[in-house]
Amino acid sequence: MSQLSVRNLHVTFPLREGTLHAAKDVSFDLQKGEALGIVGESGSGKSVCVSSLLGLLPMPPAITSGEAVFEGQDLYRCSPAQLRAIRGKRISMIFQDPMTSLNPHMRVVDQIAEPLRIHEGLSKNAARARAVKAMESVGIPDAAQRAKSWPHEFSGGMRQRVMIAMAMISEPEILIADEPTTALDVTVQRQILNLIRDLQKKTGMSLILISHDLAVVASICDRIAVMRHGVMVEQGNSKEVLSNPQHPYTRGLLECNPALHEPGSRLTTLEEMMEEAEDS
Ligand SMILES: Nc1ncnc2c1ncn2[C@@H]1O[C@H](COP(=O)(O)OP(=O)(O)OP(=O)(O)O)[C@@H](O)[C@H]1O
Ligand SMILES: [Mg+2]
Repeated sequence: MSQLSVRNLHVTFPLREGTLHAAKDVSFDLQKGEALGIVGESGSGKSVCVSSLLGLLPMPPAITSGEAVFEGQDLYRCSPAQLRAIRGKRISMIFQDPMTSLNPHMRVVDQIAEPLRIHEGLSKNAARARAVKAMESVGIPDAAQRAKSWPHEFSGGMRQRVMIAMAMISEPEILIADEPTTALDVTVQRQILNLIRDLQKKTGMSLILISHDLAVVASICDRIAVMRHGVMVEQGNSKEVLSNPQHPYTRGLLECNPALHEPGSRLTTLEEMMEEAEDS
């Protein structure tokens, strides 16, 4: 049985001009420990699909139908209290822009520690001690000293590490990363992707990685799902999708990434790039 099974998800937004169908009959599965990549152009419905899982759709949302069964529980039928118990504890999410997700008036250490205070009721000092450890585990140098800093004192890459530490501190079963590196420069992007990949391997958690960049997703994920205009047009094993794309839109994405045409070689190259970035 899949760890997460999304079936026939429809998300519509009632707008003045008419009804916008942001997700149309989307179904996908996530197995335990697996990395699933969701790719597609801007506006294709990637964020809507994953935000819906944690009840994070912007208002006014309308989930017209569907189910998302996570370990036997349908997330779309959970009460707000049930969802709060899952969000940030069993399923964590990181977003593109840490500056809008971090509280500018809260010290970094206390933000990272917050899930522990909420979900595990730890004392301030115990939670802070764990938060410093989490900062170390995401590669923030001088974690003990920097813990007391404010978010604006960190670089973009370090802020994204803070977000990852916060997402990981409760040892989630699933991490959802929605374009986690888009706002970063290329070298830092690679470091952050390596970090996410390493954490996933180390902890055995499952990962849903969203990106508009097929190369990024192919380099990290076991399976790829391709979205277009609210529809999941193709999904499959990463290597198969790259070597034998079934949908014309996927073929189009591949044509934008000529080097991906030879999946074996490109995957290797990306892997090597990843290793290099790790060493640096
Ligand atoms: N709160 C909202 N009200 C109305 N329409 C919305 C709302 N949120 C999203 N949409 C629309 O739903 C569609 C899917 O949006 P979504 O954010 O999921 O795209 P995306 O694939 O994540 O794009 P990007 O790569 O730019 O993040 C888009 O047409 C978007 O304009
Ligand atoms: Mg998005």
